Amino acid sequence: MRLTEASSFFSQSPEETEALGHRIARELIPGTIVGFEGNLGAGKTTLIQAICQGLGVKEHVLSPTFVIMHVYQGTKFPVYHFDLYRLSHKEINDLGWEDYLFDQGISLIEWIDRAPPINVPYIKIKIDYGDEPNSRKFEIERIPSKN
Ligand SMILES: Nc1ncnc2c1ncn2[C@@H]1O[C@H](COP(=O)(O)OP(=O)(O)O)[C@@H](O)[C@H]1O
Ligand SMILES: [Mg+2]
Repeated sequence: MRLTEASSFFSQSPEETEALGHRIARELIPGTIVGFEGNLGAGKTTLIQAICQGLGVKEHVLSPTFVIMHVYQGTKFPVYHFDLYRLSHKEINDLGWEDYLFDQGISLIEWIDRAPPINVPYIKIKIDYGDEPNSRKFEIERIPSKN
């Protein structure tokens, strides 16, 4: 798998999504930003939990819905997990979140579509429901810098 190339994956179970997360984790290099799009229950957190596990995070990873972000320590670099669901652009900017994005950690951002424009390239992972209750489609795309 090459995260810089657009690609799609299908999953029929949470376990298959976890396997995808482990594969993605192996491709992540310091400073990478990954943004996730998809409705509630699509599987953003499930995928992120597996990515974190693949990065060596030992803590239990939960959606940071009430605290905006979590910092985890992976084996090689820190992991910043954001959930932008309830935040306005002003609140996001007030976080000083670009300090994290420009850091040498891995930034994993749920609801990236709610973010103000990001002036650095990032990997977008869009999750859609399939025809069956447990089927999901993952589309991976590299988004260039807005500058
Ligand atoms: N193929 C699948 N991939 C991911 N999650 C799935 C899949 N099939 C069913 N699920 C279920 O969907 C839910 C996804 O929840 P979650 O990862 O919290 O979504 P989000 O963070 O996008 O709101 C979980 O309850 C999970 O067990
Ligand atoms: Mg979530």
